[in-house]
Amino acid sequence: MSHDTREEPVATSAAQRCDGHSWEGVSVVAARYEEDLVPALFEPWAGVLMDLADVRPGDRVLDLACGTGVVARAAARRVMPDGRVCGLDVNENMLAIARRAAADVEWRQTDASQIDLPDASYDVAFCQQGLQFFPDRLASLREMRRVLAPGGRAVIATWCAADNGDAGYVPIAAALQRHWPDDPAPRGFIAAIFGLSDDTELARLADTAGFDDVHVERRTGTVRFPSAEAWVEAFLGAAPVPSIASLPPAIRAAIIAEAATDLQPYVDSTGIAFPLHTNIALCRA
Ligand SMILES: C[S@@+](CC[C@H](N)C(=O)[O-])C[C@H]1O[C@@H](n2cnc3c(N)ncnc32)[C@H](O)[C@@H]1O
Repeated sequence: MSHDTREEPVATSAAQRCDGHSWEGVSVVAARYEEDLVPALFEPWAGVLMDLADVRPGDRVLDLACGTGVVARAAARRVMPDGRVCGLDVNENMLAIARRAAADVEWRQTDASQIDLPDASYDVAFCQQGLQFFPDRLASLREMRRVLAPGGRAVIATWCAADNGDAGYVPIAAALQRHWPDDPAPRGFIAAIFGLSDDTELARLADTAGFDDVHVERRTGTVRFPSAEAWVEAFLGAAPVPSIASLPPAIRAAIIAEAATDLQPYVDSTGIAFPLHTNIALCRA
């Protein structure tokens, strides 16, 4: 897919789009995120992104919204010892886990829309499942392009709800709606996860930010947990939404039980396995 539109998208504020969640300063979720969600949802894609970007020994790699650093760590394994890797994230708690996991990567607490790094200083830039959460997506993409050397490769992944791509999340949102109806924040967070589902919009943003050779492809992975309950618990435990962390135990148990029941079509004797689509934009600076 190629897109020539240079029309300026309207920036949406974090409050409007994220509806009550914030990645900034959330403390409890980082360890749960790394232990429970990264192996099932994020790590399986790290090698795919390395291959798509053709990361080679000696490359200088930036990982934007690095979280606990799964993509940056995969890059470090490929580029070291002659290359270098920098991971950026707004959340210091995520970075604390990243720092413990990989001392040879440079970790920086930075908002993606204002990157304190020199122009043209990287060969490859990644952003895995971060762009949909940024208050100013376009400014962040422009920053990503600015720090890439001319011809540098950018790979940007955002979850895609189309064609049942959010199958694992819909029952959780529905159970939250039934049992915690007056609080829009948890459902708003689920909406934000899939808030940049449209491949055309992703391509248009990359184009507008000045990237060349923009190409977006959709890939599908399978998310596996030992049980439907384990998946719902892992999701609720790692969500950066204070009101989820403080759900009354009986309400939480009811949400887990009902969502798990609705997820039964994806359960077999080995546990739950549901599809999750991601759009992946490949572009050149
Ligand atoms: C779903 S996690 C993805 C993390 C990581 N890329 C991975 O694959 O595991 C989203 C990340 O985006 C980060 N984030 C959200 N808004 C940000 C911003 N404005 N600037 C930098 N990072 C941001 C969050 O702190 C969080 O670590």
